[in-house]
Amino acid sequence: MVAAFLLPAGSAQASASLRTHAEARGKFIGTALATGPLSNETSYRTIAGREFDQVTAENAMKWDATEPSQNQFTFSGADAVVNFATQNDQQVHGHTLVWHNQTPGWVQNLGATAMRDAMRNHISRVVGRYADNPAVVSWDVVNEVFEENGDFRRSFWYNTLGESFIADAFRAARAADPDARLCINDYNVEGINAKSTAMYDLVSELRGQGVPVDCVGFQGHLATQYGFPNDLQQNLQRFAALGVQVRITELDVRIQMPRSAAKDATQATYYRNVVNACLAVTACAGVTIWGFTDRYSWVPDTFPGEGAALIYDENYQAKPSYTAVHDALAGGTSTDTTPPTTPGAPSAGNVTSNTAALTWTASTDSGGSGLAGYNVYREQGANDTLLGQSTTNSLTLTGLTPNTAYQVYVRARDGAGNLSAGSPLGTFTTPSGPGGNGGCTAVGTVQNQWNNGYVVQPVTVTNTGTSAISGWTVTFTLPPGHTPAGSWNATLTVSGQTVTARNAGYNGNLAPNGSTTFGFQVSRPNGDTQTPSGYTCA
Ligand code: XIL
Repeated sequence: MVAAFLLPAGSAQASASLRTHAEARGKFIGTALATGPLSNETSYRTIAGREFDQVTAENAMKWDATEPSQNQFTFSGADAVVNFATQNDQQVHGHTLVWHNQTPGWVQNLGATAMRDAMRNHISRVVGRYADNPAVVSWDVVNEVFEENGDFRRSFWYNTLGESFIADAFRAARAADPDARLCINDYNVEGINAKSTAMYDLVSELRGQGVPVDCVGFQGHLATQYGFPNDLQQNLQRFAALGVQVRITELDVRIQMPRSAAKDATQATYYRNVVNACLAVTACAGVTIWGFTDRYSWVPDTFPGEGAALIYDENYQAKPSYTAVHDALAGGTSTDTTPPTTPGAPSAGNVTSNTAALTWTASTDSGGSGLAGYNVYREQGANDTLLGQSTTNSLTLTGLTPNTAYQVYVRARDGAGNLSAGSPLGTFTTPSGPGGNGGCTAVGTVQNQWNNGYVVQPVTVTNTGTSAISGWTVTFTLPPGHTPAGSWNATLTVSGQTVTARNAGYNGNLAPNGSTTFGFQVSRPNGDTQTPSGYTCA
């Protein structure tokens, strides 16, 4: 019997990286990359290189980054992503050429002839730069061209050029790189609905006209409160029948904060289902997750009250959703249903006003999947909160409230996601007094600018004190007439020309010498070249 001699799909080591398993299944597993941490965080680079074999620039290849002023191209961020991919043997998906967001005002204000010329020039220069680079294999040519009801989005592209901009863009991209795979990309098209059917009809029509549409991207920005699109696989399959490649391009699964073990488990099933749908469809090339660590995710700034959408937490600890992606790629669900033994009660040493060092007696696991780590919870009646996770039998809790009594317990987890019973409670009380000595600094860097706007990224916030801090506030002054047009990794409030930036839920904790970054975009009067000043941190 021939089949008995074939390697089973899951023959890669169970503990191997995501990319090892994905490659064994003939799929890619990818991540979006943010250039800030890519340039200065070792943990970020290590995980991105080790776990993924495909990358997409989260922002660095967008129009505002690559051509902020007409015909003045800047590729520093894009090149950083491509170079990282080359060093790590990863394929790059270019994102994105023609979109209504993150496109400078000068494009939006052009008349029809000039706008069409500018679009063709942009595509030719950006795609052309990487046409001979073996790492860059595909592009999102147009992004988000539909409304939810399936009409064409009334963007400045559509309003100025009509729907022909779409075919034009694909033809220009093909001319710039005949070998690149050219995709159309959108969100809320994972299930079969009015929007995905409009996409299906357009792709079918364009291909019938010989327009080079090779691939359809399904962003996959999912949220546990809206349910899973159970017809995802069926939908991918109907597009595959048109002869196109399909791929999940921007997967994340956000939850309503705070995290809990139950929400983590639900999220893990969403991740597993998406990976399994792609595995089940031959034309599905792979799955790209929109970042990998909750430390850097667009979700908290875009969907207030939601977050924790990725597969590693903000301290680079793998979450249950990592295990779900891993096990799906490794070839199926585990048969291990035996939880680990119950750990010992946590005991707290070295308690400060906002940290506590916990240790406990370790668990063992006999079910086959092995001990994966521990979850530490705060006992609060019906709504216990997950304070942190650890792979060893100790954990330093951070971000605690001063002058507060804590009751905490630990549950062990195994590789199949089984949780042990809760340990006996440990108790401690944080002393009062300020968290840290108040010392922090903020340094802002203008990343790029155009006639009537600019992006400040990163603003680096550093704890210069000798104890950990659990929150920070940065203020700075905008020149007259400047107004913020969005921020990430911090929440902005504006009073006159003074802007106050407060940490997001996930980046307030800074150890001594620790730092984090945030960024923001500003609109300014045409031709003004001023930028903000007077960054101070408290
Ligand atoms: C988002 C980035 O993640 C953010 O950092 C940025 O501020 C806004 O754009 N659909 C897309 C992506 O195609 O480009 C978007 O990325 C998320 C939604």
